[in-house]
Amino acid sequence: MKLIQTFDYAELSQQAAEQIISRIKRKPSLNLGLATGSTPTGLYQELIKDHQQNKTSYKQINTFNLDEYIGIPKKDSHSYHYFMCEKLFKHIDIPLDQTHIPDGTARLLDEECTRYEQFIQEHGGIDLQILGIGQNGHIGFNEPGTSFDSRTHIIDLAESTRKANSRFFASVDDVPLQAITMGIASIMDSKEIFLLVSGHAKAEALARLINGDVSEDFPASVLKKHPNVSIFADKEATALL
Ligand code: F6R
Repeated sequence: MKLIQTFDYAELSQQAAEQIISRIKRKPSLNLGLATGSTPTGLYQELIKDHQQNKTSYKQINTFNLDEYIGIPKKDSHSYHYFMCEKLFKHIDIPLDQTHIPDGTARLLDEECTRYEQFIQEHGGIDLQILGIGQNGHIGFNEPGTSFDSRTHIIDLAESTRKANSRFFASVDDVPLQAITMGIASIMDSKEIFLLVSGHAKAEALARLINGDVSEDFPASVLKKHPNVSIFADKEATALL
């Protein structure tokens, strides 16, 4: 794992964006894995700025999001479909039918998991996956205890994750109990991975990732077994290293 330390969140977002843009220049039909949450929003703003100023094109890109809440309609402002449209897709030239997110409202959820997993593989797999990290070490919504062999699956969200994400909802009771997430093995199939870590609240998780053992109790630790991971972390996040 390569650690890229930045001064602050703005620099983290700029550096990650520059690296993504260089990958797109090298391969205009890049398969790009995306994450939601607070951490990548600065990166998405940088990609939008670059698209407007330098005309980097996403016309041949396919995107694959890590996860989606179960039971929230796509048009609902709490869904990750809505989040991605607002924060990125509607501001760049990507055709919407090339943006892929698991369907958390599918009638047959197990079949949706299988379909999404196969769909990514049929598209040739993910070239570059963007990840955030939960304070409990989750990647995607793979909570502690998830098998390293897992493929796209349904997960019961940890209480700590529901509490952390309640900031996007009226109350913690409104946060869905479950989500569909790419599995750990699905994430590990990506050719390259960028993990973004920002702020004091993530310092303990980053220290455990760097200094701790590889264990299913701390899902992000699996990244130590991947040959091509870059961690972009700001000063606050690296405070305990
Ligand atoms: C989001 C996702 C999660 C988040 C993580 C950190 O698609 O898969 O793993 O990356 O919960 O969230 P933030 O960035 O809000 O701290």
